[in-house]
Amino acid sequence: MLSSQEIIAKVGNLPSLPTVAARINTEIESEGLSAKRLGAIISEDPALASRMLRLSNSAFYGMPRQISTIERAVMVLGFDTVKNLALSISIFSFFEKGISPAIDVIGLWNHSLGVAVCARALVMRLNFKLAEQAFLLGIVHDVGKIALVNLCLADMEQVCRLIGQDGMSEEEAEMQVFGFTHQRIGSMLIKEWKFPEMMVMAVKSHHELPPVLKECDEEIAHLIRCLCVANQFAKALALGVSTNQKREAIPSVMWGYLGVERQDIAGLSTVIREDYQRIIQSWEMD
Ligand SMILES: [Fe+2]
Ligand SMILES: [Fe+2]
Repeated sequence: MLSSQEIIAKVGNLPSLPTVAARINTEIESEGLSAKRLGAIISEDPALASRMLRLSNSAFYGMPRQISTIERAVMVLGFDTVKNLALSISIFSFFEKGISPAIDVIGLWNHSLGVAVCARALVMRLNFKLAEQAFLLGIVHDVGKIALVNLCLADMEQVCRLIGQDGMSEEEAEMQVFGFTHQRIGSMLIKEWKFPEMMVMAVKSHHELPPVLKECDEEIAHLIRCLCVANQFAKALALGVSTNQKREAIPSVMWGYLGVERQDIAGLSTVIREDYQRIIQSWEMD
């Protein structure tokens, strides 16, 4: 068995994000990225470009006319949507590399899509312009589990057994087997992939109800709280299959932060379920 230090040291050797995604993150961080440049970067990777066009034309975006070029996708869907789609497709390819008979990786990907649509629906109640960022947070939040599947499958199976058969909490099981949590390794990984600090913080805190947030601005706090609620809400609505299906109760203080009243929850659930059905069909790849 690998020690926790050995596993952490290996994070740098994990299948890296496709160069395209790394370039998108690096260029945004350093000099800003123009719509034209984003289109050019995506077009250089034919597999990414074709998945991008398929998703752009899917029911989820409901475009009235066929989108046949990346430039057109950027124009019609907008810079943020296309940029986040490119990053989501790259994360999906990381999930594909982790596919194993022992762990339901596709179920976990579907859970991530479920958390993405929940986080997006929740964030939009108070702040429409954070929708795309909330979606991407849902996509990446459990990426640490896929890292662990890649690095030490047998140990990850042991974690699932401890949760499923022995009734341990996920955190207890991960601490016993690895000495750290999937939130920790996930946040290290996305830091390595040059995702912004806000996302690193969100991945690290996604199991906290409420998250402990030191010195961060209100928009970031709102995004992180939405992610924490979305992770539990997606389980409550049975969207996808997490490796840990047990869900924590969502304290009323969390709903309060998000501006959701008890009587709003049923309507919100209906919208989220519909979004989820559309997105699952859209992501049914090759
Ligand atoms: Fe998680
Ligand atoms: Fe999760």
